Amino acid sequence: MDELQDEGTLSGTPNDLDSFWVPFTPNRQFKKNPRIVVSANGMHYTSHDGRQILDSSSGLWCANLGHCHPKIVSAVQKAIGTLDFAPSFQFSHNQAFELASRVGSHMPGDLNRVFFCNSGSEAVDTALKIALAYHRAKGDAGRYRLIGRERGYHGVGFGGIAVGGMVANRRTFGPTLAGVDHLPHTLSLEQNAFSRGEPEWGAHLADDLERIVALHDPSTIAAVIVEPVAGSIGVYPPPKGYLQRLREICDKHGILLIFDEVITAWGRLGKASAAEYFGVTPDLMTNAKGLTSAHVPMGAVVAQDFIYDAMMEAGGGPNNEHMIELFHGYTYSAHPIAAAAGLAALEAYREESIFERVADNAQYFEDALHAHRDLPGIIDIRNIGYMGAFEFEPLAGAPGKRMFEVMIECYERGLMIRVTGDTVAFSPPLVSERAHLDEMIGTVADVIRAKMA
Ligand SMILES: Cc1ncc(COP(=O)(O)O)c(C=O)c1O
Repeated sequence: MDELQDEGTLSGTPNDLDSFWVPFTPNRQFKKNPRIVVSANGMHYTSHDGRQILDSSSGLWCANLGHCHPKIVSAVQKAIGTLDFAPSFQFSHNQAFELASRVGSHMPGDLNRVFFCNSGSEAVDTALKIALAYHRAKGDAGRYRLIGRERGYHGVGFGGIAVGGMVANRRTFGPTLAGVDHLPHTLSLEQNAFSRGEPEWGAHLADDLERIVALHDPSTIAAVIVEPVAGSIGVYPPPKGYLQRLREICDKHGILLIFDEVITAWGRLGKASAAEYFGVTPDLMTNAKGLTSAHVPMGAVVAQDFIYDAMMEAGGGPNNEHMIELFHGYTYSAHPIAAAAGLAALEAYREESIFERVADNAQYFEDALHAHRDLPGIIDIRNIGYMGAFEFEPLAGAPGKRMFEVMIECYERGLMIRVTGDTVAFSPPLVSERAHLDEMIGTVADVIRAKMA
């Protein structure tokens, strides 16, 4: 490593702030006052000026096992010196198969077939494409419509923003996919403010799918995609019975149900998946983030056997076995380094009883959040598993401004938080101790009190 690199990137601030176009970030502000981290370990980042920063958001809902987990670091180090890359088109490598079967073994029902990609966005687009391809394989090519939900986040691919429902993420990019419709979102402050866990009110919102089905005719609808718990919008746990109802309506009309579990899979709710937590099995499920605990990018779509089988069958008889059944994949699908990180992460979840620890601490986390009901300006507190949110009244004429400032102030005080609009969303690393939870929630509360005084 040369001196310039050492000085420029591993400590202090970078020499050139202009070149990197920082994603989902106000670049003009950021480059005046950059928030640069230089290393990480466990629950903390180290900032460029040498401060310890507690991570309340698992990076971006992804570093479930904390940072630089020794088991994953060592697996990655070993892998990079053994097999740097293997093509996944027409060839493969052992760890890809091993990880796929381990992933399947953690999933409910017949969710056993795993298609690898590199991110949540790719997983979403892959799942939507598999849904369309499945219907065509069954001779049902008329099913082309995809149904998402208002305020949903499904990444940033064209498929994902089409079925997604966060307005800022879609309004600048034109009409995106044709044939998409949206269910209503499930947040009602009138009915459910300050609910703990799944709200009592709102299962009937799933019945809107019947209205959409009647409007478009079921024979045109391929799939419904939802986050079991809407994360990025600011943690909306599903109303009690809502997901079960969606499942029933999908079954009734031959529509595939896709759970986007990019955030919720791998322990966030104290189970391997939200599907297991809620007892509702989708036909297709996306994964990413916690799959490798963020150490190496990786995403996956898990499909029920019947979907995979239908695709194989449609491939034709023995004379056609040289034919590709699904024309889809990425250069880096099942990348060996990501596969090694995934295997190590899954082992760490088991060895350290991570899911059980989240289940044990979830009530504590809930109580710690709801103890702040008297914060100035607060209009809702929501939580489930290790996901939580404080929502505040927006400043008149400047939505999001106050929480942006809260985020900056928290960073000054040694805490990284994730804000979305006027909501602070907590997604602590699953290895957080109770003292960490207290510190993150307490610091946010102190900053809010100081700001609103
Ligand atoms: C539910 C959901 N789907 C998809 C994505 C996109 O994942 P990525 O940023 O890895 O593309 C996210 C990211 O937060 C997500 O929360």
